[in-house]
Amino acid sequence: MKRRLPSSAYNPISFFGAIAAIVNFIVIVSIVFIDHVLGGLSPYVGIISFIILPSLLFLCLLLIPIGMHFERRRLARNGDASQARSFYLDLGKPSHQRATIIFSTCTIIFLLATAMGSYQAYEFTESVTFCGQVCHDVMEPEFVAYQYSPHARVTCAQCHVGKGADWYVRSKLSGAYQVYAAAFDLYPRPVPTPIKNLRPARETCEQCHWPDKFHGSQEKLFNHYMVDEENTHWPIRLLIKTGGGSKETGLAQGIHWHMNIANEIDYIATDEQRQEIAWVRIKDHQGNVREYMNEENPLEPEDLAKYEMRRMDCIDCHNRPTHVYRSPSRAVNTFLSMGEIEPSLPSAKRIAIEALIGEYSVKDSAKQKIATQIEQAYADEYPETWETRTADVKQLIASTQEIYRRNFFPEMKVQWDVYPDNIGHFTSPGCYRCHNGSFVNDESGEVITNDCNSCHVIISQGSGANGQAIAPSGLEFRHPVDIEEAWKEMACSECHTGTSQL
Ligand code: HEC
Ligand code: HEC
Ligand code: HEC
Ligand code: HEC
Ligand code: HEC
Ligand code: HEC
Repeated sequence: MKRRLPSSAYNPISFFGAIAAIVNFIVIVSIVFIDHVLGGLSPYVGIISFIILPSLLFLCLLLIPIGMHFERRRLARNGDASQARSFYLDLGKPSHQRATIIFSTCTIIFLLATAMGSYQAYEFTESVTFCGQVCHDVMEPEFVAYQYSPHARVTCAQCHVGKGADWYVRSKLSGAYQVYAAAFDLYPRPVPTPIKNLRPARETCEQCHWPDKFHGSQEKLFNHYMVDEENTHWPIRLLIKTGGGSKETGLAQGIHWHMNIANEIDYIATDEQRQEIAWVRIKDHQGNVREYMNEENPLEPEDLAKYEMRRMDCIDCHNRPTHVYRSPSRAVNTFLSMGEIEPSLPSAKRIAIEALIGEYSVKDSAKQKIATQIEQAYADEYPETWETRTADVKQLIASTQEIYRRNFFPEMKVQWDVYPDNIGHFTSPGCYRCHNGSFVNDESGEVITNDCNSCHVIISQGSGANGQAIAPSGLEFRHPVDIEEAWKEMACSECHTGTSQL
């Protein structure tokens, strides 16, 4: 046989390397092509085609020069004088010409493919599929809940990694540990928050949200339903004074302005989840400093130093901007207001909540048990409704199962009461962590406000025509059931734990 390439190229190792590399390359190209045509095959396809196979391809290619090296040594030992010389290139020889052409073409193709491949690998490891689905069991709660949140179109990496090579590398290093933890089942359930080493909000949130933006006052409707036989509708319409502003925008007021932009607020919390705050200091934009101590959680000045001080930023209020786990009461309210649960179905809210808070160890068994429990409840308590309105009850079952799917993750032990939500103050203390009336400034006696109207005004509340009328100047809060002055004296979250007083 006429040899068209240098004789050292003819050896089993190089031959194997070359064939394996070609097969590998064809497989990668076909997977990428099929994935492109069919669209999103499986999250694992990305790992295989952009990470595992290219690494193998590189190893196969490496076999070619390794094989040639050994072959040359073998030929030299067998007395082939031309192989005894160290490496040389003689473009006058046709075999060297061909080898050079093949080598350069392959190198160019390989480099181009590597450039494309590593870009794809970069994109892929930053994608929602990679973060949310590859590590399926661990990230399922976040991945599912996130799809029903305002940030459903923002990728996990835009908040958790952000821009720049340093955080990319950091995240991949800690990611490597996380893969190990997931593989050997070493991860905590639930994943604890606040996340240590979360990238500062300035470098993530503020890349998309301009902190100086003036938001004005925003109307927001909170649809509530009572836990009674009629599922009495009790909508509350608030005008929330989000505000904001800066010298540039010329408008300065409201929640964002006081809390964030021109002012610096530092605080000390005595618990891991930053729910029990003991001390707060504000340095306003003119440089005035005011300190407040919590009379309900008093600390001696010398004890303060034992705790870490934290500068308040977006995450201290917006700690659930996405992956929000709704409480049973809140989720059922939403489904009632959307007509996904028929409000005229007697005690629908109570029965749905009772089914949601059952003890279930895995998601699949929960689905079946929710159905049985709701059917049983109607058969026992409202046999007539069960006979005549079976379709509505079936819809209630389907909706309750859907609420469960989106908000409850028994395998990861995740549900609404695991992670406090710091915006508002309904089911967790939120703003009331500081605005509860017990933060006092020793010098002036000033108190951090707990006046209902400092953050929002109620412009309509309650059921019936009366409840729908808008009062622009604001109304005094009316608690839907008589609890006397308790709503003024206690935090709403002391009674409202998410299940609506069951
Ligand atoms: C809009 C920004 C944003 C996006 C998008 C986002 N996260 Fe988060 N994530 C956060 C914040 C803020 C926290 C809470 C930090 C804290 O309390 O310390 C958090 C917390 C978490 C936690 C800790 C447990 C928990 O549920 O709070 C995990 C795990 C997590 N995110 C995974 C993901 C995954 C997976 C995705 C994509 C499917 C994602 N995140 C998308 C901002 C985001
Ligand atoms: C990649 C860009 C991006 C990043 C990063 C980002 N957001 Fe957003 N955020 C958006 C977009 C886009 C919307 C508006 C969605 C809409 O109105 O359709 C939004 C909406 C919001 C809203 C309004 C939610 C509502 O109920 O209407 C809040 C609050 C918010 N973001 C806070 C944050 C916080 C806090 C972070 C950091 C943890 C963050 N965002 C990071 C793009 C981003
Ligand atoms: C003191 C707590 C607090 C801090 C700190 C804070 N926010 Fe807000 N923000 C609020 C409240 C309250 C609302 C009203 C919306 C609501 O009730 O859901 C809001 C609303 C928003 C909205 C929605 C506005 C709209 O048009 O719908 C965005 C976006 C937002 N904040 C981004 C940020 C960003 C970015 C930061 C950090 C620079 C930040 N917030 C810091 C409390 C805060
Ligand atoms: C870590 C403590 C802390 C938390 C949590 C907190 N605040 Fe504040 N807030 C302060 C301090 C301190 C001031 C300034 C008091 C002063 O002026 O001396 C303030 C002032 C305000 C003001 C201006 C009040 C006025 O007198 O006009 C508003 C509005 C406000 N906060 C809204 C909120 C909202 C809404 C939340 C929850 C989303 C919240 N705050 C959570 C500490 C906090
Ligand atoms: C420090 C600011 C602040 C104070 C003081 C405050 N609120 Fe709120 N409240 C908020 C914010 C912010 C929200 C919006 C939460 C959200 O967007 O989910 C809210 C939400 C609510 C809601 C809707 C509840 C829900 O989640 O369905 C009601 C009702 C309400 N507040 C009543 C009151 C009453 C009554 C008082 C006085 C006793 C009061 N608030 C004091 C900031 C405050
Ligand atoms: C002493 C306990 C207690 C306190 C404090 C309290 N509530 Fe209630 N709340 C109740 C009871 C009991 C009901 C009636 C049962 C039900 O329907 O959930 C109720 C029902 C409601 C409902 C309608 C049903 C629902 O859960 O959606 C709203 C809205 C409400 N309360 C708002 C508030 C707000 C806002 C605060 C704080 C300013 C507050 N409550 C403080 C006990 C309390």
